[in-house]
Amino acid sequence: MGIFDNKKTAGQDLLLPRHIAIIMDGNGRWAKKRGLPRTAGHAAGAETFRRIATYCRDIGVEYLTVYAFSTENWKRSVQEVSSIMGLLRRYLEEAVDSMTRERVRIKVLGDTSALSPDIQELIRRTEEIGSKIDTKAQANLCVNYGGRDEIVRAVRRWAAEEPGTQLTEDVLSKYLYTAGMPDPDLIIRPSGEIRISNFLLWQSAYSEFYFTDVLWPDFTTGDIDRAIEEFRKRDRRYGGAK
Ligand code: FPP
Repeated sequence: MGIFDNKKTAGQDLLLPRHIAIIMDGNGRWAKKRGLPRTAGHAAGAETFRRIATYCRDIGVEYLTVYAFSTENWKRSVQEVSSIMGLLRRYLEEAVDSMTRERVRIKVLGDTSALSPDIQELIRRTEEIGSKIDTKAQANLCVNYGGRDEIVRAVRRWAAEEPGTQLTEDVLSKYLYTAGMPDPDLIIRPSGEIRISNFLLWQSAYSEFYFTDVLWPDFTTGDIDRAIEEFRKRDRRYGGAK
C-alpha cells in the first residue's frame, strides 16, 4: 500500500477503525481475585469475546482479531491448555451452526496443524461456511499463533513457491495468515500489561495502541467505545509529517 492510500485510510479512521485487534489478557488474575481456578477466568473471557464480537459487528467494525492462544501458551499446565482448547471447540461448534445467521465470518489464524484433529475439522468447516457468507464482519481467532513464527513461515513458503524472485513487503504480506486483510488500526491490551507479546508483529507497524487496567473478563462494550474515542483523537502520520 502506498503512502497516498494510507492517507485515504487515515481520513476514514476519524469515523471507525476498520480492524481492531485485542490481546485478551487478565483471565487468570480475574479468577484468582474470586478464588476460582484459572480455567473459570478463560470461560468468562470466552463470554466476553462473544459479547465484544457481536458489538463490533453491530457498530460496523469489519475485522476483529483476538489472541486466544499463543505459540508459547503450550508451557501452561495440561488442564489449562485443555480448558482453552475446550472453549475453542465449543465456540467453533456453535459457529458452524450460527455463522450464517449471525453474519460474522470466523477464521482461525495460526499453526493449526498442532491442534487436535477434531478442532482442525471444525476449523475446516467454519472456513468452508465462512467462504460462502456475504458479510463485511470477520472475527479472527489467533490460535497457536506467534508473530515471529508467522513471519518465518511466510518467508519459507515464499522461498518454496517463488524461488529466485524479489521479496518485497507486499509479497511477504501475501504469505501471512492475514493475507488480504487490512492491518489493525487499533490494538487493545487490557489488564495493565504494556507489551506486544509476539502478537501481529508485522501487521502492527502503524497500529494505534490502547491500554487499560480492566481485566478481560470485565471488559465491556463501554470499554470498546472508550478505546475508539481515544483512537479518534490520535494523529496517524504513518511516518510522514504534517
Ligand atoms: C491471557 O490471560 C489469556 C489467554 C492465554 C487465553 C485466552 C483464551 C480465551 C479467552 C478463551 C478462548 C476461546 C474463545 C472462544 C475466544 P492470562 O491467562 O495470561 O491471564 P493472567 O495474566 O491474569 O494470568
